[in-house]
Amino acid sequence: MNDLPSPEVYEKEFKYMPWGELINDLLQLIERDVKPQSELLDLMCGPGYLLSKISTMRPDLKLTGVDIDKRYTHYTRNKYSSIECITADVLKWQTNRKFDTIVCTGGIHHIPYPQQHAIVQKIFTLLNDDGFCIVADPYVSDYSNEEERKLAAAELGYEYLAAVIRKNAPNEIITAAVDILENDLFMTEYKTSVKKNTLLFKKYFSSVEIHKTWPKKESEYGDYYFILKKSTHIRK
Ligand SMILES: C[S@@+](CC[C@H](N)C(=O)[O-])C[C@H]1O[C@@H](n2cnc3c(N)ncnc32)[C@H](O)[C@@H]1O
Repeated sequence: MNDLPSPEVYEKEFKYMPWGELINDLLQLIERDVKPQSELLDLMCGPGYLLSKISTMRPDLKLTGVDIDKRYTHYTRNKYSSIECITADVLKWQTNRKFDTIVCTGGIHHIPYPQQHAIVQKIFTLLNDDGFCIVADPYVSDYSNEEERKLAAAELGYEYLAAVIRKNAPNEIITAAVDILENDLFMTEYKTSVKKNTLLFKKYFSSVEIHKTWPKKESEYGDYYFILKKSTHIRK
């Protein structure tokens, strides 16, 4: 597997990769819809980019991040002292706390396919009954066998690479995009399709809303976020 980029390169990716547009959309949603004075958890928070933006926008919220990579959690703790950042494997992390809002962006596709249901179950358990959760990932087109999965990964990977080249990204960002393609092809990242993921979310959550942020053209693959609630009657 190609290692994930350093925290510094990771932060630059938001400027050049389509993923940055999705994160901007989520920031607007969080600013508008998260309950005042509530607790927000970012599962698999990486180097804390999203949490840091939230802490500036919504200083009333209590923010907690969890990530397995010490480089990222140390970087977050040192740079943003108001954010509680825990180093842990989300699948093993134990807590009695419940959260009003949970975000998990770009995380589930790092969990091997057989364990992806466990992370969704974990999110369900950690979420307050009247809370909501935002899960976002890049998705490949649907597939039904290994050859189709590889072709779907190559399609997404090529389009991602093309998008960063068109944005005139520096070589370190192009390298990160090439790494994503290779990781998906050889299954050290585990991107799934919107269709498969929707079925999984529906096993746990009664309200599942789907939003696509990239590409703007018609496509199955791309960057999507889901808004998940335990009941269809919950306030926005
Ligand atoms: C692509 S990054 C996403 C970071 C950030 N949430 C974002 O939107 O940019 C995936 C993150 O998941 C973390 N990760 C992978 N497996 C994990 C696990 N089992 N437990 C906790 N974090 C994990 C990685 O360390 C990495 O920071």
